[in-house]
Amino acid sequence: MRHPILLLAFLSAMLLFGACSSPEKRSTTGTNDAIEQRVDSLLALMTLEEKIGQLTLYSSDFDVTGPTMRSGYLDDVKSGKVGAIFNAFTAAFTTKIQKLAIENTRLKIPLLFGYDVIHGFKTAFPVPLGEAASWDTALCARSARVAAVEAAAAGLHWTFAPMVDIARDPRWGRITEGAGEDPHLGSAIAAARVRGFQGINEGKTLAANDVVLACVKHFAAYGAAEAGRDYNTTDMSDRVLREIYLPPYKAAIDAGALSVMSAFNELNGVPATGNQYLLTDILRNEWKFKGFVVTDYTSINEMIPHNVVADSAEAGELAINAGVDMDMQGGIFQFQLAKLVKQGRVSESTINEAVRRVLRLKFMLGLFEAPYGRSDTTRERERTMTPEHLEVSLDAARKSIVLLKNDSLKGNAILPLASTIKTIAIVGPLADSKRDMLGAWAGACDGNKCISLLEGMKKRFPQANILYAKGCNINDDSTNAFNAALQAASKADVVIAALGETSEMSGEAASRSNIGIPGVQEDLLKKLATTGKPVVLVLMNGRPLAIPWAAQNIPAIVEAWFLGTRAGDAIAEVLAGDYNPSGKLPVTFPRSVGQIPLYYNHKNTGRPINPKDKYTSKYLDIQNTPQFAFGHGLSYTTFAYSALRLEKSSIKTSEQVRVSIDVQNTGTREGVETAQFYIRDLVASVPRPVQELRGFQKVVLKAGETKTLTFTLTPEDLMFYNRQMKRVVEPGDIKIMVGGSSDNTLTTTLKVTQ
Ligand code: GLC
Repeated sequence: MRHPILLLAFLSAMLLFGACSSPEKRSTTGTNDAIEQRVDSLLALMTLEEKIGQLTLYSSDFDVTGPTMRSGYLDDVKSGKVGAIFNAFTAAFTTKIQKLAIENTRLKIPLLFGYDVIHGFKTAFPVPLGEAASWDTALCARSARVAAVEAAAAGLHWTFAPMVDIARDPRWGRITEGAGEDPHLGSAIAAARVRGFQGINEGKTLAANDVVLACVKHFAAYGAAEAGRDYNTTDMSDRVLREIYLPPYKAAIDAGALSVMSAFNELNGVPATGNQYLLTDILRNEWKFKGFVVTDYTSINEMIPHNVVADSAEAGELAINAGVDMDMQGGIFQFQLAKLVKQGRVSESTINEAVRRVLRLKFMLGLFEAPYGRSDTTRERERTMTPEHLEVSLDAARKSIVLLKNDSLKGNAILPLASTIKTIAIVGPLADSKRDMLGAWAGACDGNKCISLLEGMKKRFPQANILYAKGCNINDDSTNAFNAALQAASKADVVIAALGETSEMSGEAASRSNIGIPGVQEDLLKKLATTGKPVVLVLMNGRPLAIPWAAQNIPAIVEAWFLGTRAGDAIAEVLAGDYNPSGKLPVTFPRSVGQIPLYYNHKNTGRPINPKDKYTSKYLDIQNTPQFAFGHGLSYTTFAYSALRLEKSSIKTSEQVRVSIDVQNTGTREGVETAQFYIRDLVASVPRPVQELRGFQKVVLKAGETKTLTFTLTPEDLMFYNRQMKRVVEPGDIKIMVGGSSDNTLTTTLKVTQ
């Protein structure tokens, strides 16, 4: 037993400090002197082995990966070799493990419990890409808040979210987990989700028993995987890294996130998990990040197949010296760090700094005052899937739905459906699916508790004769059930075709080389169209899909993503017109996988497309334009933009300017519009994108109502990295664009002078 007197002093100090520095008195985002003193006192007592234990994170019996789980982790917990556990939840189970740590270890340092609470813990919300289509940061904060309340009640302190990776390639399955292709929208949503998880909007501190510590992932640029193939190499200029991929991580950290997860991928020749430029130079020295860095699942070990280290010892040495603090599941810190210190390859001061960061968060989370503060099983029951939470889930679901197309047939738009409609055929393999409504990374959510589209429609149209036929499976070539679906369609006034992907066809390790509607679903759709009945396509998918035939031939198309527990209710509300769809795409829908990467904020090139000139940047066999543009989304009403005006036509590089526009609801019913504000720097020292989102506002407009929206353009909005990689505002003309989609704006020009 090292320093028994010191230990006694520490434990009494803990009691003293613990009493007088109650967690509620601490700042919501930063540490304070009392915590630093407690960290120092505890660190001074720890053996090297105990320190390394704090840098080790293992999965628990709930680990879905099973065979890779280390069998003796409970022994490691009792011997202080583990500082955190993930995949363990419920108040009872986490308490059981916490007791093992507290009652068996010398210093009684509480465990941190983490889990992937990505879009809901028990109440499931839309997949993050779908929720991003709401362009509603308050909503994103609210759903994260609900997830945190439920997760904390189940004994969790920490979520491995928000995932904020910018993604421009829909072949990449994890596009479903983020907020799409744009750094501005992605940053706003990242910050909102952090504030929700950590209760910051309610002034909560991390020690509140109904918040969870956010973990920004996957740092960095994981979404730029070449060819959209998960875990693949990412390589880009520092300018693209800093202007496109880094902003959402920075926004999340600026919002208060105090843990970051290092990514699997190599970035510009160095694996992210051993990348000092990322983990120390940018994260700590430039951004002043005060939290800790946890690796992704065995990503230290994976630096061996990355071929940058020869063995585990080198991998551990590279990771900890680059800035990693905690080893997720790899066992490398546990088994290599002590040797590396003895060999002088890793200094104990480096270890101490990593332990300090972890202990700081454990103190901030109030774990020492209340190691069993989340073990109340009654509270767990009372706070889970409450009516209020289910209402938030429904609200998020309805606001995430994007009306992609709603053409009129014989003078009338098919949607919304008339309440007097007599017979509705609901067909397709996703029509009565419950589990798929969860989407990827649904964690502890129960698919059986989801409302399917069929259930939602039966509830919403009790008077109608609802005919259901599956029609086909999601991803095989059997057409045996086509006829039953066609018969149902032939008897109906309208056909709702629920087609798309399984929830496993997006998410991790779920890249697709073909982003069409899988299996024979599109063949079924074509046959349904031949019945002459009006067909509504309801897409349920985790990524943008290439649907050129449907976009051409199906009059109404609704993008319903995977909407979570209340999916069926939300879709039914939109199809019935109870809720006027308001979603806007957070990501481009290409016409073909051959166009990828296809994103709105692209460069002009020296030979921008000219259909009349062969020698310009275009394809021989398809248009350059997307099927549906970034920011696209229709409503059951219409909106008109007018009177785009600048507060002044010219500003200095240091000045800001207000940009106003009138938006009118020119239809017959109330609607919500998301006005988008874009810029283009027409001439700069480096080529600038043809559009860059710099603001958005949601506005509710009654039929006929007009409102004036005002955006403020700041010098920060105009900044970019010049040839010397300095962030500058340059004089010149700026094209200002405002509208309801990136491909539909009013424009004017602002002059910027030195
Ligand atoms: C996975 C994912 C990461 C997740 C972690 C723990 O491989 O890449 O997003 O948080 O492992 O489950």
